[in-house]
Amino acid sequence: ASLQAYNTFGIEAKASVLATFTSVEELRALLQHPEVQHLPLLVLGGGSNVLFTQDIQAAVLLNRIKGIRQTPAPDGAHVLVTSGSGETWHELVLYSLEHDLGGIENLSLIPGTVGAAPLQNIGAYGVELKDTFHSLEALEIATGQLVTFNREQCGFGYRESVFKKEAKGQFIVTSVTLQLTREHQFNTSYGAIQDTLAQQQVSELSIRAISDAVCHIRRSKLPDPAQIGNAGSFFKNPEIPAAQFAQLKAEYTSMPGYAIDEETVKVPAGWLIEQCGWKGKVLGKHGVHKDQALVLVNYGGASGNEVKALAYEIIASVQEKFGITLTPEVNII
Ligand code: EPU
Repeated sequence: ASLQAYNTFGIEAKASVLATFTSVEELRALLQHPEVQHLPLLVLGGGSNVLFTQDIQAAVLLNRIKGIRQTPAPDGAHVLVTSGSGETWHELVLYSLEHDLGGIENLSLIPGTVGAAPLQNIGAYGVELKDTFHSLEALEIATGQLVTFNREQCGFGYRESVFKKEAKGQFIVTSVTLQLTREHQFNTSYGAIQDTLAQQQVSELSIRAISDAVCHIRRSKLPDPAQIGNAGSFFKNPEIPAAQFAQLKAEYTSMPGYAIDEETVKVPAGWLIEQCGWKGKVLGKHGVHKDQALVLVNYGGASGNEVKALAYEIIASVQEKFGITLTPEVNII
């Protein structure tokens, strides 16, 4: 079965088995199926964080568990919103706006599903999933049991969680519960949000105004996967020792960096890649996005291996020029 329609890079690759589940029961039944049992598993939500480089000998299971419901939180100030893991993330953001529930408006328009969000602790414009995360339920593949993980147990970090490390490949997220606010705390720490709000002459802050601003910024910088194949940021922003940053800054005075703590500085990978001359580069059917060097794109018909080769050329050139090692954020399969 072809996976082309199920990855936002729009790359052609075939899977031995392709099946969809819409409930925990259907998922359990699939896991018991003889054709699935002898194959490695790959669960896909929106397919917005994968790059296929070959046909895969695996059972690809498409998560389509839907449904969003809310319950008041015990503290009265919050509302717990539980979403099926197969919901589209932005649908959940729209739900929060409709019900005037705050906390995820800065995460508007992030591609992918709710179930994938905790795996890499999605984040944008000053907010990360972990900030509103309450808990999730996941099916343990080995036992078929549902297990609850609270925030601590998820081990969230920058684009990291326990599901990318110790628990990798062992669980399938079935629902996610967020703790959202009725009395909002707006996060406008990100310069571009302030600029956009000013530009649009927003006088009264609201979660909708912030969401609109974020959508505006994303649409102006990031390619829409429906039009140009891509998986968002291809690399993580690297964290480097403060001493190394100081040295580089002396040579490259315009180099941006954000202190994580006394010893560590996070550097925008997009800047490093742009400095190496990659921004907007077109190589046949693939290339580097013209407005955001962190995003690799498939203009149509590129192979996963072509995109992967480009990624490794970029890593090598950033390494050579700056002595910084970029790591892919996208799962290369
Ligand atoms: N920059 C450049 N050239 C570029 C791109 C960026 O010089 O081509 C520099 C600029 O100095 C800019 C800075 O990098 O001020 C930051 O750029 P931007 O605000 O676009 O954010 P980012 O660090 O490149 C991260 C996330 C994005 C998220 C934005 C906004 C990662 C890997 N990426 O990108 O997440 O939307 O911040 O918060 O952390 C994603 O993960 O797929 C994603 C799109």
